[in-house]
Parts: sequence; structure tokens; C-alpha cells
Amino acid sequence: MKQEVIAVAIDGPAGAGKSTIARAAAAQLGFVYVDTGALYRTIGLAVCRRGIDGTDTAGIVHTLPEIRVDLTYCDGAQHVLLDGEDVSDAIRTPEISVYASQVSVVPEVRAYLLDLQRDMARTQSVIMDGRDIGTVILPDARVKIFLTASPEKRAVRRCAELREKGQQVTLDEVLADMTRRDSQDEGRAVAPLKQAADAVRVDTSDLTLDESIEAVLRVIRASMKGE
Ligand code: DC
Repeated sequence: MKQEVIAVAIDGPAGAGKSTIARAAAAQLGFVYVDTGALYRTIGLAVCRRGIDGTDTAGIVHTLPEIRVDLTYCDGAQHVLLDGEDVSDAIRTPEISVYASQVSVVPEVRAYLLDLQRDMARTQSVIMDGRDIGTVILPDARVKIFLTASPEKRAVRRCAELREKGQQVTLDEVLADMTRRDSQDEGRAVAPLKQAADAVRVDTSDLTLDESIEAVLRVIRASMKGE
């Protein structure tokens, strides 16, 4: 019997815990976890490396046909490749976070990444996280979750994450960067960050990581059972 392919879309603002929670939930369910933010970050990195400004739309659009972005999986972990180079670590800096947010407002960038994202969900069950997965990329996803938390809680978590990686950042810097990205992601004309009408909202402000994973798994399991 052919196994049913199920798509779970998880959208929400930066620092809500999407990637950690989605990765853990995917592992429990045996689904592939797709982190779409990594794709925008990779284009941001390509633009940054070329010395193009993140607000130079024409420069960004010209970069697209010159680069190749691929997703691969190694022991279940997603890796993102820029022209064959594994840039999974290089894209995780505050500078590239800003570039990613800037390039993501360009419609050509979103169109460039559309098929790659949809293809991932065609033949395998996925949990895909991003900003427009439930609204644009996978509008027919079986399960849609909007994962959020207060800006302060999100900044505290992101700050701890960056410090763990050895980056010296202050909470104020992270909160300011997060607020700027939130308004950019919510305010852009194309595919803005917003909750899909049929998404279930999960607020992780007062939940531990384990409780957040449980809450997400509960929503997914209930939807899979058709509740
Ligand atoms: O999830 P993240 O912080 O790695 O995402 C980086 C940036 O990419 C974020 O500022 C918004 C953008 N993004 C997007 O526009 N659409 C997505 N599906 C995922 C990320």
C-alpha cells in the first residue's frame, strides 16, 4: 500500500522556536524537516559575498541566475548548498539574518525558491517551516500551525542561541534586530508573514521546549486523525 504523503506547515516570526520544535516533531513522526529560512539566508549570503547591498533589488535579481541553491540531507539533518558549497553554518550570523530578510522582500527571490520548496513536499511527508508556507507555498497542507511568542521571550531565546554559538551579542541588539525583521517580514507586499485563516495558533511564550513540542504534536496528530 502506498503511504500517504502529509504536509505540515509551520509559520511564525523569528525566534518563536519554529526550527527546534519543527525538527523535533518531524523526528518523532518520521517526517522530513524543511527549514525554508535557510534558503533565503543562502541567497542573502550569495548577495553579501558579491558585495551587493541588501536593498539593491536589481543586483539581487541579477545574482539569481548566477547561483545554484540545493538542499541535501545528511543523517536526517538538512544542509544547504550554495554552488555546491555547504554553507549551513555560514548563513547563521546576525549579518546574514538581515540580508535574508532583505532579499526575501524581492518577488523574484520568492519565485526562484517556490518550486524547490514545493518539490520537497511532493513525494515525502514534511514539516516545513517559514513565513508563508501555509499561505503561499503549501496552501493545501494537511496541518497548518502558526507558532508565536512575545518579542521579549523570542529575543531571550535567540540571544542564548547565538551566545551558545560563541557570538557576542546583547539582548538589546537581538531584540532590536528581531523587531526590525518582524516589521519587515509582516510589512512586505509579497507573501507577508501572517497567520493562514485555517492555521492553529500555538503561543510558546509560557511553554518549555518540551511542552511546545508536545503542543505542536497534539495539533498534528489531531489533524491526522481528522479531528
Ligand atoms: O527563519 P529564518 O530566521 O531563518 O528566516 C530568515 C529570513 O528569511 C526571515 O527574515 C524571513 C525570510 N523568510 C521568508 O521570507 N519566508 C520563509 N518561508 C522563510 C524565511
